[in-house]
Amino acid sequence: MTIELDDSGWGDPIGGVFIGVLRIETNEYMVKEIEVTHFQGPNFTQKTFLTRGLELVMEIFRCLQVTLDEPIHVCRGAVLDGVREGLKAQNYQVIPTKIEGKLQELVEANFVESLGRLGISDIPLVSGKERFFRQLEWIQEDLKNREQYAKTGWKNWPTKIRNWKPKWRRKQQNLLGQPLIIKLGGSIISDKTKRSKARFDIIRQLVSEIASISSSPIIVIHGGGSFGHFPAKEYELHRGGRSKRKRLGLTETALEMNRLTQYLIEAFHEVQKPAIPIHASSVIVALDGRISHMDIESLREFLRQGFIPVLSGDVAADTVTNFTIISGDQIAMYLARLLNAPRVVFATDVDGLYTADPKEAPNAKRIDVITPDTLAQVFDEIAVGVAAETADVTEGMRGKLNEIFKGLPKNCEVLITDIRKPGTLQRIAAGKSVPSTLLRHSS
Ligand code: IPE
Repeated sequence: MTIELDDSGWGDPIGGVFIGVLRIETNEYMVKEIEVTHFQGPNFTQKTFLTRGLELVMEIFRCLQVTLDEPIHVCRGAVLDGVREGLKAQNYQVIPTKIEGKLQELVEANFVESLGRLGISDIPLVSGKERFFRQLEWIQEDLKNREQYAKTGWKNWPTKIRNWKPKWRRKQQNLLGQPLIIKLGGSIISDKTKRSKARFDIIRQLVSEIASISSSPIIVIHGGGSFGHFPAKEYELHRGGRSKRKRLGLTETALEMNRLTQYLIEAFHEVQKPAIPIHASSVIVALDGRISHMDIESLREFLRQGFIPVLSGDVAADTVTNFTIISGDQIAMYLARLLNAPRVVFATDVDGLYTADPKEAPNAKRIDVITPDTLAQVFDEIAVGVAAETADVTEGMRGKLNEIFKGLPKNCEVLITDIRKPGTLQRIAAGKSVPSTLLRHSS
């Protein structure tokens, strides 16, 4: 039978290097990690990773009972020099080659998952600039504590990489133009009390405001409202699962979300604005309910061409729980970080977050700014009542605020407001102030 051997992580600044072995005919697969310590200090200079790599491969070969008559296709990467030499010396038939396809994807996924366990969640599966800089950004957020996970043995670590500043990346990303990300709350575009009932008048109103913006690229993400939330709750999809009943529930939820997305796309088409649906379920992989990978290449390309990509909170494959629900809030903040968005708008039906429902309590006060320091106090204030939404909402709003702060990049601010009033969105796109609740890192 044929054996393939590939590595992942050699060009990544964080973590060790993963070596995966696949027996093609039987799909038997095993992976092991050359620990990051082999890429640090004198170990790296002495190239201890070469012998460690061979040791690990021999362990895998023993488990898989690889025999001398099986051709071994080994990736040409330098980290595997020791493996190729060592195997040849033991009379294995080594064929240096370029590994693509299934094995490559598996090893990359294992490597990316290991970064996910460290807490770096938004890492592309494909190695490259985006993945590299995202890791540097993560280290720089807390250099003192995180440097231990880095390949500090690299020659340019102390001179260059260690001193890398996120603003260099921003400059590069700005070539695209900083996008405005708009999350349309499910409870505004649908009637939350009636299953799968869209509010077409509101959808049209919102879409025509959004379509009037030409100054910056726009990404729209809508929530589930009475479409996705009903089946998602009925089948408890956020907990994952595997039964046929649950999997059918997942299909049902995806269908519901697609339907709502379609209504939005139709509304954009009606006003002759090019929009394109991007189904989050097709581009996201989650790790225990959090996005661990999102392929944004088509989104980026459509954005560059002037389309409005329309996404939604959605179902997603999950490497821990099989599948899960990813909220539009999580996607919005994930994209804000990845695309360096200066502003994210959470569109609701009041101009901010109030201490009580302003439609019922005339003395309700709007909370103008929330920072991580004032969040706990805000939770106390809104405990008595929250504007804009109905019964289950206090918890919903807490969840929303927590989600926003979890993903809020340093230079980004989030506005919770009503964008239906003509001109409001234009002011936001121009960086001007509007009546709203602002969420940001400092007051
Ligand atoms: C939920 O998305 C998506 C599904 C239920 C499939 P959100 O959590 O962003 O939806 P809203 O805005 O709260 O309705």
